[in-house]
Amino acid sequence: MDRIRIRGGNRLNGTIPISGAKNAALPLMIVSLLTPETLTLSNVPRLADVRLLQRILQNHGIDIMVAGKRPGQNGAAGDVMHLTAREIADTTAPYELVSKMRASFWVLGPLLARCGEARVSLPGGCAIGTRPVDMHLTAMEQLGAEIAIEGGYVIARARKGLKGAHIRFDKVSVGATHAALMAAVLADGDTVIENAAAEPEIGDVAECLVKMGARIEGIHSTELRIRGVTSLSGATHSVIPDRIETGTYAMCAGMAGGDVLLKDANAGHLGAVIDVMRQAGIDVDVVNEGVRIHRNGAALRPVTVDTAPFPGFPTDCQAQLMALMTMATGTSTIRETIFENRFMHVQELARLGADIHLHGDTAEVRGVRKLTGAQVMATDLRASVSLVIAGLAAAGETMINRVYHLDRGFETLEEKLSACGADVTRISG
Ligand code: EPU
Repeated sequence: MDRIRIRGGNRLNGTIPISGAKNAALPLMIVSLLTPETLTLSNVPRLADVRLLQRILQNHGIDIMVAGKRPGQNGAAGDVMHLTAREIADTTAPYELVSKMRASFWVLGPLLARCGEARVSLPGGCAIGTRPVDMHLTAMEQLGAEIAIEGGYVIARARKGLKGAHIRFDKVSVGATHAALMAAVLADGDTVIENAAAEPEIGDVAECLVKMGARIEGIHSTELRIRGVTSLSGATHSVIPDRIETGTYAMCAGMAGGDVLLKDANAGHLGAVIDVMRQAGIDVDVVNEGVRIHRNGAALRPVTVDTAPFPGFPTDCQAQLMALMTMATGTSTIRETIFENRFMHVQELARLGADIHLHGDTAEVRGVRKLTGAQVMATDLRASVSLVIAGLAAAGETMINRVYHLDRGFETLEEKLSACGADVTRISG
């Protein structure tokens, strides 16, 4: 297995191109199940999760063609992917595949809408929490599906097709909103989704669906109103820039100090993160090309932050912020409200010398003057990258094991950081 070695202490100066958003690309790929015509996606990030979903969709009979890099194109431009689901060959999503990536459970809605049936493995738990799918199933039932659980699989049927419904979610779920939206666009009649997640990735999916002929109002809000259509066509759509990758590199620059342009970043998707970084004493400028982060010598100030659904501070940036606050001049309070077990990075950050105390869902981070490099590993994507941030400022050498977690969500991380002067090297296993 590959490892990443960081020798801390270098400032970051230069430009980091931001890739297409993983959490938009994955549901957009799944949208291709809804039409027999070709969906063309551009700015698709080159990530392990994207490759895995490709395999899962091919299993359902989707033809996928990925166009290689074109002459003169810069290395940061994403892939162009053509997905054609002329016929659905198989409506089963097997355990072996769904258990490797939770988002593949989201095929349930589109398969039901297009084929009137689906058999999808329950995803099971994961490192950051129990992550149930009850809201997905209730939404499908409200749209007229019959649901049974047999042998670890959700068996869903809608013999006469799905019917529009009024869905009100009790809590905000990105996945359940995607599922309800993707099913409702082909249902018969009108659907209202109340208390929908308003994450930019959902807006991106909705905008792509509209290009395909779907009728959706309230895009980017917490109430989506959908008028079902009988079929959808192909379309061409570019994936939005990754706001979590942006927030992550912003914190890398904040931690290491220096001056970095996050090229193509969309500041409008990052309001809460930018506010917190400014409170911490980091300069953030929104410029034409993206977002510029600089810190030259100023001390990091402690912050108090609760994670929350969009537009709140994203849970997917919580671990990274915690790494940054390990070296603030005072005590920060970080409360995780979305997932019950998303603190696996705490023990690993402690190996580098961080002083963090957990009280239920809240971490008290007492800033230290110095971190020291060590061997570390983490059990999920965002926790792993928090160790990279800490490693950039730690004295000596930090060795991050289980790099495959990073490869799920960060494209060429070591190249992007090295180009700005960091001493980051991948060591092949
Ligand atoms: N929940 C339920 N029942 C459900 C669905 C969700 O109780 O049926 C709960 C979850 O257990 C959690 C909360 O609702 O406590 C929110 O979960 P959500 O459904 O919003 O999460 P998700 O759709 O499974 C997506 C992202 C995650 C991100 C969360 C929250 C993708 C592929 N995944 O997950 O991203 O943390 O939304 O914003 O979009 C990551 O990229 O590292 C990642 C984990």
